[in-house]
Amino acid sequence: MKLNALVVYASNSGNTRMVAERIGERLREAGVDATVRDVFGMKPADLRGYSLVVFGSCTWLTMIDGKPLQAQLPEHMHRFAHSAEHTRLPGSRFAVFALGRHEYTGFAAAASHLRVLVHKLGGAELVQPLKIDGFPHHQLETVDVWADQAAANLKRDAAVAR
Ligand SMILES: Cc1cc2nc3c(=O)[nH]c(=O)nc-3n(C[C@H](O)[C@H](O)[C@H](O)COP(=O)(O)O)c2cc1C
Repeated sequence: MKLNALVVYASNSGNTRMVAERIGERLREAGVDATVRDVFGMKPADLRGYSLVVFGSCTWLTMIDGKPLQAQLPEHMHRFAHSAEHTRLPGSRFAVFALGRHEYTGFAAAASHLRVLVHKLGGAELVQPLKIDGFPHHQLETVDVWADQAAANLKRDAAVAR
């Protein structure tokens, strides 16, 4: 059976979308059938049926319970994570990436929020989170290495499970 992956991202100004699309391309080059989707409009049930789910998000200043908080997920990813709290995907594999800027307190803290979501979903992380500081355009090699590692670990786990 061909391995498949869903890359779910939240991006306010396009950087995270660029990284998500690059990860999708790289996974496809590694032979994984990868789909890339904006989290906007997605339902938790849409996460089912994939060998690997990759979550990626920018880090933002977000209104949470009526207060503006730094170092958060943007609102649409925050809402999705909240709605998925009671979804369980125990057999799934996950990977997380986050964008941010080191000038902010809580650099790329979106990664920590996404890891909490993965923990609640009950799956296992295939690789350490990827954190991108600033514009990703000149950091695409780092993204490629990370995506290749995720694909290799996914294949390794699939071979062991056979
Ligand atoms: C209003 C605002 C708040 C931000 N807050 C944070 C933050 O708390 N921590 C951080 O590391 N980066 C923060 N950033 C930086 C963004 O995460 C970074 O620019 C990222 O590349 C944006 O990704 P996007 O283009 O996908 O939206 C903030 C940027 C803006 C404009």
